[in-house]
Amino acid sequence: MKQLDTIFIAGGAGYVGSKLIELALKKNYKVICFDKLVYGSKSIINFKKNKNFQFYEGDIRDKKKLEKIFKTKNIDFVVNLASIVGDKQCNTIPESAHSINFNGNKFLYEECLKKYNKVKKYIFASTCSNYGIVDPDKYVNERSDLSPVSIYAQTKVDCENYLKSKKKDKIQTIILRFATAYGISSRTRFDLTINSFTYEAIKYKKLHIFSKNTWRPFVHVSDMAEIIIISLKLKNKNKISIYNAGYTKNNFSKQQIVSKILKTLKFKVSVEYIDAIIDRRDYRVNCDKIKKTFKLKSETSIIKAINEIKSAIIKKKISEKEIKANLLDQNCLRLKKIFKK
Ligand SMILES: NC(=O)c1ccc[n+]([C@@H]2O[C@H](COP(=O)([O-])OP(=O)(O)OC[C@H]3O[C@@H](n4cnc5c(N)ncnc54)[C@H](O)[C@@H]3O)[C@@H](O)[C@H]2O)c1
Repeated sequence: MKQLDTIFIAGGAGYVGSKLIELALKKNYKVICFDKLVYGSKSIINFKKNKNFQFYEGDIRDKKKLEKIFKTKNIDFVVNLASIVGDKQCNTIPESAHSINFNGNKFLYEECLKKYNKVKKYIFASTCSNYGIVDPDKYVNERSDLSPVSIYAQTKVDCENYLKSKKKDKIQTIILRFATAYGISSRTRFDLTINSFTYEAIKYKKLHIFSKNTWRPFVHVSDMAEIIIISLKLKNKNKISIYNAGYTKNNFSKQQIVSKILKTLKFKVSVEYIDAIIDRRDYRVNCDKIKKTFKLKSETSIIKAINEIKSAIIKKKISEKEIKANLLDQNCLRLKKIFKK
């Protein structure tokens, strides 16, 4: 009988990770999820009865724990999603954010290189936030300069530079610079533009929008999972490849997102636009390279996701308690409690 390939997913209990595990198990992979469970374990409860799923609780910086797992398991692919994600989250615990995002990635990568391993590919989740602020009339591509404007993006750029410096190693690395995610997963984040605007519109019938003309690329969380799965088996000649991970036609300004939400929800929501800048990022991203190389189907639309979120909230598939726990301020409080600085 053919042995199933095994994927080690660091940060698998998170927003993207839980969606990825669902898809990987469906595609007949064995999954080892490694996570510190910063946001709890509810997101992975349903996987625990699957014989192809294993879970290890731990910190990605714990070299000994990583070594113990890698020495005893036959791991084919490693996907690193473990991270302190987001600007405010990283600003809340800057020292830990750097140590987790950078050292964690380095330790995990170094583990993959050890002799007893047969890891073929290392997939690193980076971000389009690395582009920072660019001429809003132009689209950046993978060759454009990076100008991070936050600790979060800086940690990701540092990781990219570290991985790029490892060109001579035996394993192939793929860096996916993901767009901003939207949609439902087992840990739906409500600190992300589309998800949080949709929630606020439903709950308060009111939106306060800062910097309405700033642009950003978006990608559905299911499409992110699909992209990661395709990247595992991708035949690439280069030791290291970088892709903007999203869809070129899915770049929108905040005002355009609001207009999609209002049209889809079909009830009256009052919108106040505020000129103050609380997030300086402003970029449009060309994702044609990934579309062509990965042969991506069309994206899961923002309208579909707004309807998904609406239905989940109204039918109480996601409770108010769960939403509140996944709002920005709650996430930051939790990080402060766990990591202190
Ligand atoms: N969601 C997005 O919009 C988006 C966009 C671009 C890139 N990304 C990248 O995708 C990855 C996943 O993002 P997400 O949205 O799922 O975030 P998330 O916060 O939901 O998931 C991160 C996971 O990492 C775990 N984690 C944190 N610190 C850890 C540590 N020290 N050791 C082990 N595990 C730890 C958390 O418990 C959590 O389960 C991240 O690397 C992020 O930078 C996400």
